[in-house]
Amino acid sequence: MRVFVTGATGFIGSAIIPELINAGHKVIGLARSDAGARSLVEAGAQAHRGDLEDVESLRSGAAMSDGVIHCAFIHDFSKYQENCEIDRRAIEVLGSALASSGRPLVVTSGTAGLAPGRLGTEEDAFIPGFPRVSEQAGDSVAERGVRVSAVRLPPSVHDRSKHGLVTMMIALAGEKGISAYVGDGLNRWPAVHRLDAAHLFCLALEKGSANARYHAVAEEGVPLREIAEVIGRRLNVPVVAKSPEEAADHFGFLAFFVGVDAPTSSAQTQERLGWRPTQTGLIPDLEHAEL
Ligand SMILES: NC(=O)c1ccc[n+]([C@@H]2O[C@H](COP(=O)([O-])OP(=O)(O)OC[C@H]3O[C@@H](n4cnc5c(N)ncnc54)[C@H](OP(=O)(O)O)[C@@H]3O)[C@@H](O)[C@H]2O)c1
Repeated sequence: MRVFVTGATGFIGSAIIPELINAGHKVIGLARSDAGARSLVEAGAQAHRGDLEDVESLRSGAAMSDGVIHCAFIHDFSKYQENCEIDRRAIEVLGSALASSGRPLVVTSGTAGLAPGRLGTEEDAFIPGFPRVSEQAGDSVAERGVRVSAVRLPPSVHDRSKHGLVTMMIALAGEKGISAYVGDGLNRWPAVHRLDAAHLFCLALEKGSANARYHAVAEEGVPLREIAEVIGRRLNVPVVAKSPEEAADHFGFLAFFVGVDAPTSSAQTQERLGWRPTQTGLIPDLEHAEL
């Protein structure tokens, strides 16, 4: 397949390229800079110049492909709602270019949209009002004859260099001189290694069913206290419990995430796609992380 990948220069997208090439596909990656285009060519992909807000570049990239993986996102959290809207429009454009063809489109979503406090599954819809609407945008495109599936990523997609929201917890701990968790710290986050996540994107493209949600979850729930403890050890700062009332002041916008209990299953994903995560877990990765 010729696969158009947006976000191909990013942390996860750059791991998807070798997955696809090793599986025999050709990759066309979206690049918005000369440096990005060069890195794609060095990785064995073809570079397609464009931007998430340049509709024609998305349309032409999708039109020349047999399938699309959409991983790009503008990570400016001060404009999160606006960037979710850009994401929605990008999915509609990519989907229009694939309409009536049955070609696959894999969009990126997150487990953070699931209701907290119980084991989240692939069957669960998002809590009402959750701002990231890639799944809804995918559903509207699926009605037009596109095989759309969504890969839900956990808050920490990790390797030794980066760890999603845990990278932000590390930065905060360095800045404030303490590594904190909320309450008893037994609340949990799911996690996945970047290479396992990349493999799942490839399987979803090849074998995913229309309207399916897949969970890139290798560990159902890592207690936040364990995460805070390893950060404290590695940075040599005290590990401190914050009450829910103190959390907002300490963590800012991260407070909601650090306090949430969000165990998540990937049993259906593993059964349906034969996906088996094999890489290092979050805590061992953090033990050896490049801090
Ligand atoms: N990493 C995690 O732990 C995690 C967790 C949950 C969900 N996710 C989601 O997974 C996806 C990939 O995340 P990531 O960690 O790989 O992010 P990343 O490393 O920040 O990469 C973002 C990608 O999007 C591209 N991009 C940003 N703004 C763009 C624009 N205006 N036009 C075109 N491309 C643009 C970037 O291109 P440049 O290289 O040119 O900047 C890069 O390729 C995102 O949808 C993200 O929200 C990630």
